[in-house]
Amino acid sequence: MKKRLLTILLLLAAWLPAMADEGMWLPSLVADRIGAMREKGFELTEADIYSINEASMKDAVVLFGGFCTGEIVSEQGLVLTNHHCGYDAIQFHSTLEHDYLTRGFWARNRQEELPNEGLYVRILVRMEEVTDRIQAGETPKAIIAAAEREGKGYRASVEQMYYGNQQFLFVYRQYDDVRLVGAPPSSIGKFGGDTDNWIWPRHTGDFSVFRIYADENNEPAAYSPKNVPYRPKRHFKVSTEGVKEGDFTMIYGFPGNTQQYITSDAVRYVQHRSDPMKIDLRTRRLAIIGAAQEADPKVRIQYASKHANIANAWKKWQGEVLGLKRLNTVAKKEAYEAEFRTWAADKPEYAHLLDSLEAAYAAHTEAYCLQELKNETVRTIEIATLAGRLAAARRADTAPERRAELEREIEQSYKDFDPTVERALALCVLQGFADYCPAESYPAELKALIEAQGSVEAYVDHLFTTSLLRSAESWKSATEEELAADPATLLYKAVRNTQGRLPRNLSNLPAIERWYRPFMQALMCFDRERAFFPDANMTLRVSYGSIAGYEYADGEYHIPHTTIDGIIAKDNPAIYDYDIPQSLRDLYATKSYGRWATEMGGRTTVPVCFLATNHTTGGNSGSPVLNSRGELIGINFDRTWRSTMSDIEFDPTICRNIAVDIRYVLMVIDRVGGAGYLVEEMGVKL
Ligand code: ARG
Ligand code: GLU
Repeated sequence: MKKRLLTILLLLAAWLPAMADEGMWLPSLVADRIGAMREKGFELTEADIYSINEASMKDAVVLFGGFCTGEIVSEQGLVLTNHHCGYDAIQFHSTLEHDYLTRGFWARNRQEELPNEGLYVRILVRMEEVTDRIQAGETPKAIIAAAEREGKGYRASVEQMYYGNQQFLFVYRQYDDVRLVGAPPSSIGKFGGDTDNWIWPRHTGDFSVFRIYADENNEPAAYSPKNVPYRPKRHFKVSTEGVKEGDFTMIYGFPGNTQQYITSDAVRYVQHRSDPMKIDLRTRRLAIIGAAQEADPKVRIQYASKHANIANAWKKWQGEVLGLKRLNTVAKKEAYEAEFRTWAADKPEYAHLLDSLEAAYAAHTEAYCLQELKNETVRTIEIATLAGRLAAARRADTAPERRAELEREIEQSYKDFDPTVERALALCVLQGFADYCPAESYPAELKALIEAQGSVEAYVDHLFTTSLLRSAESWKSATEEELAADPATLLYKAVRNTQGRLPRNLSNLPAIERWYRPFMQALMCFDRERAFFPDANMTLRVSYGSIAGYEYADGEYHIPHTTIDGIIAKDNPAIYDYDIPQSLRDLYATKSYGRWATEMGGRTTVPVCFLATNHTTGGNSGSPVLNSRGELIGINFDRTWRSTMSDIEFDPTICRNIAVDIRYVLMVIDRVGGAGYLVEEMGVKL
């Protein structure tokens, strides 16, 4: 009986990887997945996805600004990404007279497209495994340098897969002249704001439009008025045919961070220590900011972006904890580890691995947690951060022009700095830090600063009544001595990070990661049925799936698309996040959708967002969502918050990514923006 059950389970396991849509696959190795993709409806070949000799889809996908994905949609280098990815650029160009954030922006011609200093895109030239070369003695540095000499604007990096078991060279061409072409009003691009963020049903038109410029030889170049639109090797054809439940979907983009292979200890840390601590600390900060925003419209605007940033991960972590609990991930991992132990017992090279990992976690978790705690508390005190930035600007080895630039940036930061709010936040995070910090780890310097004033309240008062950094003007004329003795500088020094960047996960600490390297090798021998893919690390990946709703609980089924009717139902001029532009109301009232009118559910409407089963994560924002013929059907921008445990365990029954339907994007460009020429540039007839 038991044996039969085991056989059935094994059969299921062998069958599952092909059915489930889990995984983020390296494009150069996608041949392994083509069978499974074709079963789901994909009609193209691996060479259409990735080829170094022929133009392929990879030539139309861009790393946008280093943190998001974008896609090229015309012969003239037109790029689509999310509104929240283009947000900084849109905000930068916004003034009271030209408030593009509120009213949207549409360049009427090439001359009106707006340059963005510091914004770049990268297009992958090629990727190749270099594990052997590194084993043979070449250094990553030398490999990178050689690759970067191959052409103008070449940027390379060597990235680790499977905790360093494989090394891959990624060679990109970087374009530094990327101009803003269009953005909808925030009331469309951010519709629903933080309330709807991570939520389905969703009605956000989260897109913006940019254009890549190149020199006269189509090569990367710094901004110049003489630059011309980049002519890509390949761009995505847009499909206005529409999508329906069950249709194949593929996402091509740059997912940032997953941890699929961590042990139960590491999951326990995320679920029971790290996430709950960070959620609690952010709940406290959000309460302070939220109350101040309620009370003062000026503060509401000043802290809008800060609030959104704090709230984004805060909500994601809540979903992650919920999901790990729902899936019982810790218990599953423990059972899996028990099986592994039995299997490894007679294999000396593997038998000790779980003990070694356990010991490494026991030795290093507290120190990592303390760093996370500081990052969420004392290192968020803005007045101290500003003091640290000022110290860097004033350092003897900072070139004069650079110094002026840095000081201008510091000055800019005061635009969104309210001393009363900052003071309340400083007190809040100092108390939060004390609540979680073990007495023996409390930094002596910080303790001395606070004790000198008698109490933490008195200390914060002292900080905000005497620091020269408490206002935009007072620090400018301060002498070096005054700044060195300033309480904000002393606070900065007491809490700054002296250990370099914190690895992105506990498991990526070198002392822990070294055990994952052999552990991954062992897992691949132990679990032969499993379809392994390397964890996301901001390198280009393919994930495939289909358009699908989900049943979260008994009787709670979510259909996979939304329409403009849902926007109108939420519309409310009294609530900032739901106050849509009048033009959209008018469109709806007169049903003048033009060629975008679509029959759905027995009525004439316009589709807005859809759900799919692709495995995605942060960084996939702005990724192209493609149909079975590789045509663009949407732009990825979110997951449901109940899916966010997919960074650790993917549940095919409920994990869903959220995309904005390309037909809504085109309608907004055409009907709200009046920029139909962009729609035509994408090859769509109006
Ligand atoms: N949740 C999406 C992503 O993680 C969108 C974030 C931006 N939108 C917002 N309302 N904060 O990053
Ligand atoms: N909005 C996320 C981003 O900025 C994507 C959401 C997610 O899947 O984590 O990349």
